[in-house]
Amino acid sequence: YALWLRYAPLPGAARAQLQAQARTVVRLAPASPTTDAAMAELQRGLAGMLGKAPATGNTVADGALVLARAADLPDTVRSSLALADAGTEGYVLRRTRLQGKNVFLIAANSDIGLLYGSFAWLRAAASGAPLESASAPALKLRVLNHWDNPDRTVERGYAGQSIWDWWALPDIVDARYLDYARANASLGINGTVLNNVNAKAEMLSPAFIAKAAALAGVFRPYGIRVYLSVRFSTPLELKETATADPLDPQVRAWWQREADEIYRAIPDFGGFLVKANSEGQPGPQDYHRTHVDGANMLAAALAPHNGAVMWRAFVYAPGGTKTDDRAKQAYDEFKPFDGRFAPNVLVQVKNGAIDFQPREPFHPLFGAMPRTPLMMEFQITKEYLGFSTDMAYLGPLFQETLAANTHHGSPPLSVADVLQQAPGKLTGMAGVANIGSDRNWSGSHFDQANWYAFGRLAWNPRGDARAIADEWAAQTFSRDTAVRGAVTGMMMVSREAVVNYMTPLGLHHMMGTGHHHGPAPWVDNLERPDWNPVYYHRTARDGIGFDRTATGSNAIAQYAPALAAQLADPRTTPEQVLLWFHHLPWDYRMASGRTLWQELISHYDRGVRQARDMQAQWAALAPAIDARRHAETAARLQRQAANAQLWRDACIAYFQSVSGLPLPAGVAPPA
Ligand code: GCU
Repeated sequence: YALWLRYAPLPGAARAQLQAQARTVVRLAPASPTTDAAMAELQRGLAGMLGKAPATGNTVADGALVLARAADLPDTVRSSLALADAGTEGYVLRRTRLQGKNVFLIAANSDIGLLYGSFAWLRAAASGAPLESASAPALKLRVLNHWDNPDRTVERGYAGQSIWDWWALPDIVDARYLDYARANASLGINGTVLNNVNAKAEMLSPAFIAKAAALAGVFRPYGIRVYLSVRFSTPLELKETATADPLDPQVRAWWQREADEIYRAIPDFGGFLVKANSEGQPGPQDYHRTHVDGANMLAAALAPHNGAVMWRAFVYAPGGTKTDDRAKQAYDEFKPFDGRFAPNVLVQVKNGAIDFQPREPFHPLFGAMPRTPLMMEFQITKEYLGFSTDMAYLGPLFQETLAANTHHGSPPLSVADVLQQAPGKLTGMAGVANIGSDRNWSGSHFDQANWYAFGRLAWNPRGDARAIADEWAAQTFSRDTAVRGAVTGMMMVSREAVVNYMTPLGLHHMMGTGHHHGPAPWVDNLERPDWNPVYYHRTARDGIGFDRTATGSNAIAQYAPALAAQLADPRTTPEQVLLWFHHLPWDYRMASGRTLWQELISHYDRGVRQARDMQAQWAALAPAIDARRHAETAARLQRQAANAQLWRDACIAYFQSVSGLPLPAGVAPPA
């Protein structure tokens, strides 16, 4: 339950060192709910790590840990800190002399900077990192997207019910919401969309606004704003208007009134997240209007209150017939509108063009809409990576996407650059939350690391997945070098293992339709062609893979010309995504010298081995991990090894059934 905020007792030497840095905790900044939260967290953390909470006060003494805003410091100290770089949310952690005493300073320009600085100081102390540092977030909106429904079910949630107890709210406020706020603030997450993108109209009823307001009250001191997903047809469904046409004056007036009402209840309300004209959700196209008409209408209602609209680019047509390739639709629908969205609209784009697969190339919209702020949407919950059963640390997936070279711009921009350099005032990253009412929050202990990695990368999209894993492991399990090294090692392999045993070499969407768990590459009889796995892998007698070059759907033309040229040729396409872009014969020669068929099998076999290795590595850690968490994780890893074998056997048997190819010598037949 404590997540990475365990503040476990430090070993002797480290304890003495830390004690010397925090003999007392002194607040020079004025009291406020946010600095109160910082003081409380420092005391809690120090009490845990040192065995005793230090005294607090406002007198500076040698060995004091001091919380101070720029305005609370003398000029000489202030000017030595380069606080301008900290901006409105960053911090500087520095040993210095203050009022003639040796102190450790947590300095910032704002209260929230002090809270973030306090969490950063505690993180460094708990993980054994240098205490001195300075940091500021690279993106403005760092937001969780809960896919939580009013009935407490969670779409693609694998950690129990929704943590929002809508029935009890607003009068009964679970203490857990405070821990949720602490955990998010410790990472710098500053927004939360409370409800599912497949939103219900009732979310905008006065009863739900009051519930959302109660949550906002808990989160406010922690710098977290509340947002809501809205259903585009809400006024029509609540029978308040005769249409939901975004150009209809009555509809526009209704949304304006609604926004005003929300801001009366929640003065710092963040804004709306919208899924429109996708997977059957209503939207402006129902009235022959455009995404721009819809988004800008909502933006106009929120603008007087400084609210934002996050308009999702995840669209695909019912029937799957609109284009010859589902992967092309978002680009086709959005690219023509570049520069036409209101200033308080962000277009929220999933990391890849299909749907949160174990590996996808980055979405072609990144870099293709230079006049529109695009924000990233990652999925923290593992819809297609084995739920909370299989271990898959997503840090490498996030990092791989953020570091990808879009080949747009000069010098060429990475995806992280595109997010950071978005035009206008707004930049951001969203993560579909993996949080639920389970005692461990995320369905498994290791899934907490995905929440953690998302938060750290939303703060700094150039962060390193391995360093983040190591930092998490140190706080969550042990500071011991060997233990955290072993845990980090498993984590860093885990996602690639899943890719290997589910969808290697760029294969995708071969999971059972509906639940998305387990292999079902053979399914080809669903009402929409693009719901069928066969649509994506195109296994045939002659070969396998989706031809997205000019001889196929030509989706590669949606990338910058230099990248498209590279992807046009299988020889210059990274093997990791080879079959995403090419349909190739079974005897195609891979870089290794093996045939494609042999290479494919070797990936499945490697995935099975990696899953078994993780099991063995974890077993060896038994003496170093508490029995409960060790056993709970061991049970999952056992299941994961079985899942890996199942995937391998099912996929190989299926490929054989279509290709008619024999197994290469030495390969074990599917069970
Ligand atoms: C996926 C997922 C849906 C979800 C959708 C979305 O398709 O399976 O459950 O609603 O993404 O992101 O809107």
